[in-house]
Amino acid sequence: MSRVTVETGGTVVKLCLGKETMRFHSIWLRDNAQDDETRDQINGQRLIALNQIPRETWVSDARVDADSLVITFKPENKVIRYDFEWLMENNYDEVKNLKRGWIPQDYETWDSDLKFVPSCDFDKLIKKNILAFNWLADVRKYGFGKIINGPITEGALFKVIELFGYVRETNYGKHFEVRTEVNPSNLAFTGLALQAHTDNPYRDPVPTLQLLYCLESSAAGGENMLVDGFKAITRLREENKEYFDLLANYSARFEYKNNKDVHLKSRRPIIELSSDGELIAIRFNNRSMSAVSDVPFDKMEKWYAAYRRLGEIIDDPNMEITFRLNPGEAFIVDNTRVLHARKGYSGTGKRWLQGCYSDKDGLNSAFYSLEKALAEESSHEA
Ligand code: FE2
Repeated sequence: MSRVTVETGGTVVKLCLGKETMRFHSIWLRDNAQDDETRDQINGQRLIALNQIPRETWVSDARVDADSLVITFKPENKVIRYDFEWLMENNYDEVKNLKRGWIPQDYETWDSDLKFVPSCDFDKLIKKNILAFNWLADVRKYGFGKIINGPITEGALFKVIELFGYVRETNYGKHFEVRTEVNPSNLAFTGLALQAHTDNPYRDPVPTLQLLYCLESSAAGGENMLVDGFKAITRLREENKEYFDLLANYSARFEYKNNKDVHLKSRRPIIELSSDGELIAIRFNNRSMSAVSDVPFDKMEKWYAAYRRLGEIIDDPNMEITFRLNPGEAFIVDNTRVLHARKGYSGTGKRWLQGCYSDKDGLNSAFYSLEKALAEESSHEA
């Protein structure tokens, strides 16, 4: 049973759909009209500015018609239809009790208990079919994914990036080479494992995706290791709320310079939250952190204790998953969420990877576009 009433002199519309009640402001409804004078019907962009909508906009009539709400706005005398489904999707009249550090529902945090590595065949990915879509959904959910059975050819990493966007070129170039020759004389050095980290925290914004593509791997060891930074932060918050707050409330500083023309600096917290408390990024990279000088004197010792504890959680073997990359295999990580590292080597041989950066907005765009295309395809088949 659906029912609609107009309240407070036409400035609020109350819609009851069964047990659910939603209120909308007249100005919000008018601004979000979906008609072809207000919105471009192809790209969905708004065609008018707010100052083209009368300040005194009010609703003179509201009625229910099938599965939609039909509103008449004054003084424009404009009649606009809103689908119930759209209104429910965009409902803002609900109590949101968001905990600081909340994570979107379509994310699933993980630790060493994660039983599988989201993987997709290179060929399936290039075809942009349902398997590619499922893989993109997993990358969004878990913050990483593996590509298998790809060609063992230089530059194959660009084919993967083409699926969802563009390479993010940096001072390291369009891509970078990771070549390691492990022999007895340098085994001690290359045997060193790297601490899990996010890349390039000194950039603003940071590259939000990283891809590493394996072309040669004959050395024993050197497995890739990943840690879900969002899981680590959630664990820190549950253990010690004060530590979580310190790392979220104060900025750290990151820096990188070469001896020529590059000098990158950023001032951002290790735990980055949005204005409504959503956990949006972790920056964790001991090599790139410069002198932290934005934490008040009386909080610095505690801040260091918090930073140390987060590092201990990240280093905890219960947090990590490991996998080996064979030639023709690659992995992608959300560089704002998942930390990566390389395990030490235990034998001799060669390892050659090509890496590059890209951005999540392109991956999300490919996901939404593919979702729509596949839905249209199945409706045609039905
Ligand atoms: Fe790295």
